[in-house]
Amino acid sequence: MNNLTITHIKEAAQYILDKADSKPEIGLIMGSGLGVLGDYIEQAITINYKDIPHFPVSTVEGHAGELVIGTLSGKTVVLMRGRFHMYEGYEPALTAFPVRVMKELGVQKLVVTNAAGGINTAFASGNLMLIADHINMTGKNPLIGPNDDELGPRFPDMSEAYSKRLRKIAHEIAQEQQLALQEGVYAGLLGPSYETPAEIRMLRTLGADAVGMSTVAEVIAARHCGIEVVGISCISNMAAGILDQPLSHIEVMETTERVKSQFLALVSTLIAKI
Ligand code: HPA
Repeated sequence: MNNLTITHIKEAAQYILDKADSKPEIGLIMGSGLGVLGDYIEQAITINYKDIPHFPVSTVEGHAGELVIGTLSGKTVVLMRGRFHMYEGYEPALTAFPVRVMKELGVQKLVVTNAAGGINTAFASGNLMLIADHINMTGKNPLIGPNDDELGPRFPDMSEAYSKRLRKIAHEIAQEQQLALQEGVYAGLLGPSYETPAEIRMLRTLGADAVGMSTVAEVIAARHCGIEVVGISCISNMAAGILDQPLSHIEVMETTERVKSQFLALVSTLIAKI
């Protein structure tokens, strides 16, 4: 268990607010190769994670490790370029810390993105998938430990983890942009090894459409403190055993690069409309 409390959250938030001009209302957590959205933020202030009190530091290639605050699509946003995965060795509660700091900054809505393996055989690599729901297969939970009622309830409701209202808006935008937006269930696993074909068959039987190693802890933390969530996965590869080829992080990065412009168009319009 870790010992991060509301005092640490407030200290981190205060450090950020001292540097930023305005309070963000929308939070963005960008997955592998997707942090480029930060380049489009106007009047941007960039803060390195390592300079923020109590903030964890990310270690994965393709994940930068900085917060960008500024204006995007007319809204004040805070964007996390690089996130914290439990496979890096972070305590589950530490993965929740940045989300709680966002809440303290004034964030009411969170857009989470990730790269994920496609389990649904109707999907193809390069598709975007709106997350309808998730299955937490990590065996962990960021809320384990004493609950601070000031942050949220001991037993938070997860029956609408991914806002129906925001999903509807995302589908409308996709239609306008003539983008085939899939929708499905994201299974979050601990990683860092990719799944075996047998595990993928199991996950399909359980009702998962895509699989990844992030997002669930952040979304649980966000719902706990009352932030509305919308999630989008970039199907960067078909999951293990579906195609007769091995999986690699290089493929994940290459696919994300290929669909980046579609993805950015969707997310930036989404920010304008939520
Ligand atoms: N499995 C788990 N995580 C992933 C995958 C995958 O196939 N692709 C991108 N992230």
